[in-house]
Amino acid sequence: PARLFSGMQPTADSLHLGNYLGALVNWVSMQETYDATYCVVDLHALTVSPDPEALRQRTRVTAAQYLAAGIDPERSTLFVQSHAPEHAQLAWLLNCLTGFGEAGRMTQFKDKTARFGADQQNVGLFAYPVLQAADILVHDADRVPVGEDQRQHLELTRDLAQRFNARYGETFVVPDVHIVAATAKVNDLQNPGAKMSKSASSPNGIIELLDDPKKTAKKIRSAVTDTGTEVRFDPAEKPGVSNLLTIHSALSGESIASLEDRFAGKGYGHLKVEVADVVVSALAPVRERALELLADPAELDALLARGAQRARERASAVLARAFDRVGLLPAP
Ligand code: TYM
Repeated sequence: PARLFSGMQPTADSLHLGNYLGALVNWVSMQETYDATYCVVDLHALTVSPDPEALRQRTRVTAAQYLAAGIDPERSTLFVQSHAPEHAQLAWLLNCLTGFGEAGRMTQFKDKTARFGADQQNVGLFAYPVLQAADILVHDADRVPVGEDQRQHLELTRDLAQRFNARYGETFVVPDVHIVAATAKVNDLQNPGAKMSKSASSPNGIIELLDDPKKTAKKIRSAVTDTGTEVRFDPAEKPGVSNLLTIHSALSGESIASLEDRFAGKGYGHLKVEVADVVVSALAPVRERALELLADPAELDALLARGAQRARERASAVLARAFDRVGLLPAP
């Protein structure tokens, strides 16, 4: 089967609904047909200088949520990025192939430097997308399921693979990006023009997978909606209502058209109450299972160790190929 690779950063105490609908739900369904590898990208998280104890905890919490959402560690390879040093080693080769201007044009980097000032950022953040490219290429991935915000990083990955292949001969698979349009961008409940984001959203704008269900329902009931009263899907004119319809439809499976029909003449309040029910009943079992898994960290660590072993088998072969192509002597 074709190979799949994706990952998330352990940068918060919980994943949010954007991570879940934009990526994780698709990961779960895609593991049926692909040879899938899912990674907790802890090295990427270091770019925001986390507290060491928080990073340790968040790495386990992120892995537990993958499992709780339905990633099957027998079928798929599940591991922590830093446990496979080949990722960072390949990133160095790719750093030496990436232009300064090229890295500087990445919008996630530009947004952060614009918001907080370039002096506040580290070189790791600048090189972040190159490490991401290494993650993907070192696993010979054919496809990468992500949300819309990752498109540019995936384009860079493809460019780097092609550049390396052109310079040194066929070495890397050039991966396809896989974005599920309907859920590619889940928006902030309080600021529905912007994506739900762990770094930019206010606490009330984010639905966390591990939030208490009462808190989740409350956040949805107090979501910002739009002027007017009509429940209609129109992201430009009605970003708040449209976001709620997207979330409902993605979790319930009911089409947006059918939701518009059912809520005709009913007003926003009814919609919010139902969306809250749908979200809470979808997330409650995921939350419970994640908390169960976290109660036994030794078992979780053992599972991640087995995953790392599998990941390294593939990554070390690809890395050896790349080292040889660029002219590094075989390691003694
Ligand atoms: P991260 O950790 O920011 O996000 C994880 C995944 O969640 C998706 N996502 C969203 N989807 C829809 N709506 C939203 N509001 C939303 N917010 C986040 C992201 O698109 C992503 O799929 N750079 C990556 C991590 C990474 C990676 C990789 C991904 C590192 N190496 C290799 C794929 C392959 C990131 O920051 O994800």
